[in-house]
Amino acid sequence: MGKILVTGGSGFIGSHTCVELLNSGFDVIIMDNLSNSKMAAVSRIETITGKNVTFYQTDICDYEGTTKIFRENDIDSVIHFAGLKAVGESVAKPIEYYSNNITGSLVLLRVMKENNCKKIVFSSSATVYGVDNTAPYTEDMPTSSTNPYGYTKVMIEQILRDVCTADPEFSAVALRYFNPIGAHKSGLLGEDPNGIPNNLVPYIAQVAAGKLRQLSVFGNDYNTPDGTGVRDYIHVTDLAKGHVCAIKYAADHSGFEAVNLGTGRGSSVLEVADAYERACGKEIPRKFAPRRAGDIDASFADASKAERIFGWHAEADIDEMCADSWNFTKLNPMGIN
Ligand code: NAD
Ligand code: UFG
Repeated sequence: MGKILVTGGSGFIGSHTCVELLNSGFDVIIMDNLSNSKMAAVSRIETITGKNVTFYQTDICDYEGTTKIFRENDIDSVIHFAGLKAVGESVAKPIEYYSNNITGSLVLLRVMKENNCKKIVFSSSATVYGVDNTAPYTEDMPTSSTNPYGYTKVMIEQILRDVCTADPEFSAVALRYFNPIGAHKSGLLGEDPNGIPNNLVPYIAQVAAGKLRQLSVFGNDYNTPDGTGVRDYIHVTDLAKGHVCAIKYAADHSGFEAVNLGTGRGSSVLEVADAYERACGKEIPRKFAPRRAGDIDASFADASKAERIFGWHAEADIDEMCADSWNFTKLNPMGIN
């Protein structure tokens, strides 16, 4: 099997995917500028798998640096995680988001073309379903966004479609992730956000750890069974395994495919907080707060395409996801260092 270049491979989803790739016998090269992750994640990947990883501290916007990686290695395919990902920050810093995510992807695709590498799996997001579609989301629904981050995903998907049209041998799989949470069973890898978390489960984890006082539940008048927002939470290890399926699929198919990676089931904010209480054995104090701008009632996947074309489906339920998140939080009070 050829080598796989994993951009953003020391980050949350990338590090879990590297573990599953190495466990499946692939050789892995990570390139990451470490803007939102630590080198320690790479040694933890090696500890878990007992295998070596080649690491380059290189920015995907750096054409020479990216070219050097392709010159020094026989790269068969790319899994492209590298990017900035905070919705709110993207509204405040659109130029940084478009430069990093779009320019970076274009540099990567140019270097791939120059080195005859024709297979890519890309981290897209359920955010491309925008606000006009109704869950469960199917891959053929129109895509749109309400913020620069989401537009980078919509645009990169379009760029990949166009690259596949121009070169019939090219294969691109855009994986539309729903809400990845949880952590590696070993407790060595997990989500380690800087500052106060924006996302629900990292926030609850810090409440459970005593670092934050209480959860603000954003809105209790949504059109959902208990009035709080419903999302399709997926265990990061299930998500990582979906990438191994996608890379195998890309090896013998050409053209563009968008594929949802979700469980197909939604959980409300209150259901997640209750599951976390069961996982950590402590109360998660909570109060109702106003809706957060841009949030929708319910987002969950129609997960049948991934089952059909990859033979993949998610295994873990919300209790297991919260238990693994709590295990990681307990074992790493200072994050991944
Ligand atoms: P993360 O921030 O943990 O990982 C991204 C990695 O990319 C980090 O290690 C960061 O240092 C690196 N990076 C950023 N810009 C770079 C650049 N210019 N050059 C090289 N490296 C760079 O985030 P994550 O949660 O693992 O997300 C991975 C991908 O999945 C992102 O593209 C994100 O948009 C997408 N995604 C994430 C979620 C989620 O909820 N976590 C949901 C949908 C899609
Ligand atoms: N929520 C709270 N309190 C919090 C944080 C979140 O009540 O402190 C609620 C939100 O209102 C929402 C749910 O918890 O109903 C989930 O919120 P997250 O911020 O965890 O996740 P989102 O679904 O809003 O966003 C995530 C990613 C985005 C991505 C989107 C769609 O963060 O990057 O999924 O894929 F675009």
